[in-house]
Amino acid sequence: MPDDNIYNIQWFPGHMAKAKRMISESLGAVDAVIELRDARIPFSSANPDIRKICSGKKRITVLNKCDLAQEAVTSAWIASLSQSKDVCVAVDSGTGRGLKTLVSSLRDLLSDKLERQREKAYNRNIRVMVLGIPNVGKSTFINKLAGGARAKVENRPGVTRDRQWVRTSLGIDLLDMPGVLWPRFDDRTVAENLALTGAIRDDILDSESLALILISRLTDACPDLLCARYKLYPEAVNGKTPSEIFEMIAAARGMLLRGGIIDSERCSSVLLDEFRAAKIGRVTLEKPTEGLKN
Ligand code: G4P
Repeated sequence: MPDDNIYNIQWFPGHMAKAKRMISESLGAVDAVIELRDARIPFSSANPDIRKICSGKKRITVLNKCDLAQEAVTSAWIASLSQSKDVCVAVDSGTGRGLKTLVSSLRDLLSDKLERQREKAYNRNIRVMVLGIPNVGKSTFINKLAGGARAKVENRPGVTRDRQWVRTSLGIDLLDMPGVLWPRFDDRTVAENLALTGAIRDDILDSESLALILISRLTDACPDLLCARYKLYPEAVNGKTPSEIFEMIAAARGMLLRGGIIDSERCSSVLLDEFRAAKIGRVTLEKPTEGLKN
């Protein structure tokens, strides 16, 4: 890993090995696996090993937080992932949008098995393991499917929970796996994407560097949204460096300290918070290009 602030991430390979072991041990108890990813970063929020660990199991990829991502890009991701024969569904676990489609996709995926069960007059709930990197929305997703506040929603990447079954009224039992499935940290862009979307805690990163990265990404991908949010003239932004734009935003919002000095800390946290809450707009940071299918 490069010696760089953004890579100042503590991760523990031992925890990951344990999580993988627990998944392997529990696979026999489930009919399918749901892998949650963040719709804004479907590649960066994937755990690189899930496909291998779960090979031979029916799998659905859920692009969660789709309310924060660009709809057209999410559709492109679904098309791209479906090409590699993955079943993929976009979900907003906050409102529950997409969950009906998910449940019917799950039933379709397991139709042969369900049919065999019906023939034997053997009726049991579908059993599904739910996996995802920290902060991808696993607890929120499970709560929404279960229809109650059963799973504790905890905004602490790295917190482990006990493995537990959650019964839903949909004829589906969910296996909430404990342990931490880390994403890829060995790639700079992936680490940046995880930090930008808040999958990595702020206190282990330099927020001003991250805010400058955000400005650089937004000026490339959607300068119109950035200008509209911070009331900047597009021609004034054109050709400017991220630092210059950062100063323009701080000035436009009056985020100045005594003597007219930029309040960098405040400006960084406003930018990052507003981006994460999609106040700047719905922005997907990764497009489905060849090689990014995973
Ligand atoms: P985890 O179990 O995978 O670690 O994630 P968790 O459910 O705790 O969710 C992490 C954050 O993501 C929470 O926000 C949660 O509300 C939010 N979230 C989960 N799913 C969605 C979604 O589909 N759309 C949006 N917009 N947000 C989602 P938080 O700020 O940490 O907590 P809170 O303010 O909601 O209490």
